[in-house]
Amino acid sequence: MLKEVIATRYITPLREGGSLPGLVEADDFGTYVMKFTGAGQGRKTLVAEVVCGELARRLGLRVPRLVTMELDPVLGLGEPDQQVQELLRSSGGTNLGMDFLSGALGFDPLAFEVSSEEAGRIVWFDALVNNVDRSWRNPNLLMWQGALWLIDHGATMIWHHNWPGAEASAARPYDASDHALASFAPEVRGAAAELAPLVTEELLAEVTAAIPDAWLAGEPGFGTPDDLRRAYARPLLARAAVVHERVTGIEESK
Ligand SMILES: Nc1ncnc2c1ncn2[C@@H]1O[C@H](COP(=O)(O)OP(=O)(O)O)[C@@H](O)[C@H]1O
Ligand SMILES: [Mg+2]
Repeated sequence: MLKEVIATRYITPLREGGSLPGLVEADDFGTYVMKFTGAGQGRKTLVAEVVCGELARRLGLRVPRLVTMELDPVLGLGEPDQQVQELLRSSGGTNLGMDFLSGALGFDPLAFEVSSEEAGRIVWFDALVNNVDRSWRNPNLLMWQGALWLIDHGATMIWHHNWPGAEASAARPYDASDHALASFAPEVRGAAAELAPLVTEELLAEVTAAIPDAWLAGEPGFGTPDDLRRAYARPLLARAAVVHERVTGIEESK
């Protein structure tokens, strides 16, 4: 389970990306990057953040700690910005929070070095979850305290937008030619040999257990939140075994 906090003060929007995450203070006095159920694709984006974030963390990749954040829409009443006010008003209940890495720099492939091993682990992970949002234009990687941190996994697992076609969609290859780490000779096969055996049914059950029920309820074709949790696990389990064979667009170092 993720730690639960209550949002107490909206500080400022983070306007870089499209989904308008906000910097928000919580009742534990922590400062979080908050992602809202009322934004864009709504709760599926948040489910993807939890599944990928918690999976990546268990594979030894660095992801800021995730929490659930309860929001009382009243918090938005005093917001001068109309868009922010709307967002807060439409996001009452359980939202997602992520530890704010204060002073982190956006990753620039021309300014930082990344080893082939680390690049391989990240490209392999992105192939596994089909992350289309880690391009050199928009890396969604942060440099913080001398290390690389992964953020923004909302645009992954495209198959969860069409469950009847999920199996076919999950079998598709991953084009890494635009990947932010494509130029670091990512050792994808080495990463697969190390990480794929860790992606077990048990691990995925633990990861999907962290998704709040409220974001899973009411999905057509699924009786209970746990049925849907198992549906999230299946394509990842299948893909873990084969996806390294299906990464295209990069030169691998030997
Ligand atoms: N945990 C974090 N710590 C510090 N800065 C962050 C964190 N998460 C996001 N940011 C900043 O906010 C921006 C937008 O967040 P992101 O998760 O990429 O959302 P989106 O691209 O959907 O708007 C990031 O590019 C980054 O600059
Ligand atoms: Mg982003």
